[in-house]
Amino acid sequence: MAKRRFQMDPRIKRELMGQRRLLMLGLICTGLSAALYGSSMGLIRRLLKDLEKIGQTRALEDFDAMKISTVLIIGVFVLRYFFTRGQTYYLAEAVARLTNGLRQRLLNKLLKLPVTYFNEKRAGSIQSVLTNDVNVFQSAVQILRDSIEAPLKAVVALILIIFIQWQMALITFLMIPIMGIIIQRNAKKMRIAQKQVQVDLAEVGAVTQEVLQGVRVVKAFGAEDQVNRDYGRLLHTSLKSQLRSALLVARLRPLVELLGAVGLCAAILIGGWLALSGNMTVSDMAALAFALDAINQGFRGISNLSSTYSSVQGAADRIYSEILDVPLPPEHTGRQTLEAINGLIEFRDVSFVYPDGTWALRNVSFSIQPGTSLALVGPSGAGKSTIADLLQRFYEPTSGSILLDGTDIKHLDVAWLRSQIGVVPQQTFLFAGGIDENLRLGTPDASDEQLTKALQMAHAEDFSREFRDRNVPVLGERGVRLSGGQMQRIAIARALVRDPSILLLDEATSALDAESEKAVTAALQEVMETRTTMFIAHRLTTAARADSILFLKRGEVIEQGSHSELMAKNGQYSLLFKAFSDGLLEDNLG
Ligand SMILES: Nc1ncnc2c1ncn2[C@@H]1O[C@H](COP(=O)(O)OP(=O)(O)OP(=O)(O)O)[C@@H](O)[C@H]1O
Ligand SMILES: [Mg+2]
Repeated sequence: MAKRRFQMDPRIKRELMGQRRLLMLGLICTGLSAALYGSSMGLIRRLLKDLEKIGQTRALEDFDAMKISTVLIIGVFVLRYFFTRGQTYYLAEAVARLTNGLRQRLLNKLLKLPVTYFNEKRAGSIQSVLTNDVNVFQSAVQILRDSIEAPLKAVVALILIIFIQWQMALITFLMIPIMGIIIQRNAKKMRIAQKQVQVDLAEVGAVTQEVLQGVRVVKAFGAEDQVNRDYGRLLHTSLKSQLRSALLVARLRPLVELLGAVGLCAAILIGGWLALSGNMTVSDMAALAFALDAINQGFRGISNLSSTYSSVQGAADRIYSEILDVPLPPEHTGRQTLEAINGLIEFRDVSFVYPDGTWALRNVSFSIQPGTSLALVGPSGAGKSTIADLLQRFYEPTSGSILLDGTDIKHLDVAWLRSQIGVVPQQTFLFAGGIDENLRLGTPDASDEQLTKALQMAHAEDFSREFRDRNVPVLGERGVRLSGGQMQRIAIARALVRDPSILLLDEATSALDAESEKAVTAALQEVMETRTTMFIAHRLTTAARADSILFLKRGEVIEQGSHSELMAKNGQYSLLFKAFSDGLLEDNLG
C-alpha cells in the first residue's frame, strides 16, 4: 500500500507538531468516533438478527431484545456526537492557530529580509503566499484526520467481515494492493500539478494587486481593455493548470469507487453462494454490505489523502522557498550606540554596486559638519537615493566606509542608527490609521504635545487639527482624502516626532504648491538649524539654500562646495544654475 513508502515532509510535520496538544485531542476524538462507527455496524447486525428471529418466532421477548439493541445503537450515536463534536472543534482550532502562527512567522521573516529582497519580488506574489498558500497548507490537519479516520474505519470494518465470514475478507484483502498502486501512481503527478496551480494563482494575485494599485494609470492611458485582455490570458493559464489538477482528482476518485463497487458485488455474489449452502443469513449479508461500504469510504478517504497531501506539499514548498527558507543577510553585527551625537557624517571613498551588477556609486567622498545641510543634486539615476539608503544601512557599501561622529556606521546598532534619522521618503506612504497613529510610527509612546509640535513644525497643524480631533483614518473608505502636499507635510511631521539629530529628506517639498513649499521650506529651515540634514533636491533653487552641495552624475561626484563656491568655480553646476536663472532651463534636474 502507498502508506509504506510514504514519508511526511519534515517541514509539514514540524508545523503540525506546533499544535500537537489540539491535534492529539482532535485525533483521539477522531479515533473514538471511527471506532464507535465500527461498533454501530456490529449493533446493526445484531438488530437485524433480532428482526430475523422475530420473523420466525413472533415472540414478545424477542421484541424486547430488539428494543435493547435499538437503545444501544442510539447510545453509541449519542457518544459519537460528543466525539465528533470534539474532533471537529479541536481540529478547527488547530487549523486556525496553525495558520495564524504561520502568517505571523511569515510576516516576521519578511520584515527581517533586506530591502534587496523586495526589490526583486512582486508584492502580490508575496501576498499570495500569505493568503493562498497558507490556506492550502491548513489542509495538512485534514490529512492527519483522514489518515487516522479512513484506515481505522476500514480496519474496523475488516474485523467485522472476518468475524462474519473470513472467506469474504479475502476479497477485500485482494483489493487493497490494487487500490494502493493506483493511488500511489497518481500522487506524484498530482503534486506537480498542484504546485503549478499555486504558482499560477500567485501570478494572478500579483497582477490583481498591481492593477488595483495602478488603476489611475490604467484609466489615464485608456488601457482598460488591454489590461483586461492580459488578465484574461493569465486567468486562462491558471484555469488550465486547475483543470489539469482537477482531471487527476476526477480520474482517481471514481476509479477507486468503481473498484470498490466491483469488490462489493463480488462479495455479495459470494455471499449468495454461501447462502445457498446455508452458511449466510440475510442479517449477515446486510451487515457485510455496511462493512464493505465502510471499507470503500476508507479507500476514498485514502485517495483524497494523496491528492490533498500533494497540494499541501506544493504550498509548503512555496511557503518555505519563497519566504521562510530565504537566507537572511549576515546579521548586522554592530551593537554600538553613541551617547550624544553631534551629527558629523562622512562618506569615505564609498562605492556601491547593486546585487544585479548596476554600479550606482563610484568612490564618493564628502562630509557634512554637525548642524549643517548638504544638498544632493544631479540628474535622475545619479545615485542620490542610493546615498540616502546607504546612510540608513538598507545596503552596505561595496567598498569604502560611512562614518557618524567618527564611528563607522557598520559598528553601530542598526535600530539605534535608524532611530537617529528622521526620514521623509521620495514617495509618501501613510498607513490606513488616523493621523496620530501615522505620526506615532516607530515612536508609539510619543505624547500628544509632541505630535502637535511636530505638525506645527511641518506646517501641517491647521488642516490636520479637525481630522485629529475626530480621529478620521487617513486612507480607506471613510477616510480623509489628503492632497499630495498635505500627505507630504504629514510625512515631514512624522519624521520630526522622534526629534532626530539627522534629517534625511528625499525630495521633501516636491509635491507642494508654491505657497506651501514656501511654508514648508521655512519650517524645514528652522528644524534644520539644529540638525545635520541631507536632502535630495531636484530644484536648484532649493539646493542653493543648503550649506553645501554635492553634484553627482552617474554615481560620481562631479563638484562639491557651497552654492557661492560652485558658482565662482564656473563649472557644470554654475552653468546649469545660470541656464535656468536665465529661463533657458526649467528649474529641475530630474
Ligand atoms: N534596486 C536597484 N537595483 C539595481 N539598480 C538600481 C536599484 N535602484 C537603483 N538602481 C540604479 O542605481 C542608479 C542610481 O539610482 P538612484 O535611485 O540612487 O538614483 P537617483 O539619483 O535617486 O535618481 P532619481 O533622481 O530619479 O530619484 C541608477 O542607475 C539605477 O538604475
Ligand atoms: Mg531617487
